[in-house]
Amino acid sequence: MLELRHLCKTLPGTPPRVLFDRLSLRVDSGECVAIVGESGVGKSTLLNCIAGLEPIDGGEIQVGPSRVDRLDDDTMARLRRSHFGFVFQAFHILPHLNLLQNVALPLWLLREPEGSAAGRARTMLERVGLGGRAEDPPQQLSGGELQRVAIARALVHRPHLVLADEPTGNLDPERASGVLDLLLGQIRDSRAAGVLVTHSRTAAARADRVLELRADGLHDITRRV
Ligand SMILES: Nc1ncnc2c1ncn2[C@@H]1O[C@H](COP(=O)(O)OP(=O)(O)O)[C@@H](O)[C@H]1O
Ligand SMILES: [Mg+2]
Repeated sequence: MLELRHLCKTLPGTPPRVLFDRLSLRVDSGECVAIVGESGVGKSTLLNCIAGLEPIDGGEIQVGPSRVDRLDDDTMARLRRSHFGFVFQAFHILPHLNLLQNVALPLWLLREPEGSAAGRARTMLERVGLGGRAEDPPQQLSGGELQRVAIARALVHRPHLVLADEPTGNLDPERASGVLDLLLGQIRDSRAAGVLVTHSRTAAARADRVLELRADGLHDITRRV
């Protein structure tokens, strides 16, 4: 479960720019919310604030039982590693690791024994349709395949919160649909809370709710998508 209460964020500058003014949002376990909005409105910043990667100027952020805005950096980093999963637009797949190693990485960081980490990573690769390519280097993969590896890696440690920033941004419509099936299926199956930022109305319509981020806050546009 994710809950934002009266989140405030102002960007420094002359004059300073108010990005969020008492923004509130609740995402239940097993639910995926899509956030759409014009470029520059603050969607990526919102995800970064939720993840504790950017400071906020007011309000509360709760993930499960934890008030994450109150945690010190080390505690936040540990929570992020164990309970958060990210899918970024620019994959961030490591080039010198093979696919299995890329997917197993979050488990290694959590000090899971090598054998069971490899087993789980292999299962995730099978789920994203890349089971036969576990030992391949990422250089041989297409954009759609890399995005599937990124999703496998984001979900391999069964995070309670999944944050995805334009996960279908570089994909053709058919690939995008497959990637969304996977992402939404995994979020629902593992009872995680999901926040999916996208500029695509088609992608957004697949989520349980669609919210538009505007300068004056979040608006529920589920019925208009
Ligand atoms: N660290 C920062 N310092 C100053 N301005 C920033 C910073 N990060 C983002 N911005 C600005 O904040 C606004 C929102 O950016 P972003 O969250 O990336 O929007 P979106 O993802 O909706 O396109 C933009 O105007 C961007 O230039
Ligand atoms: Mg963005």
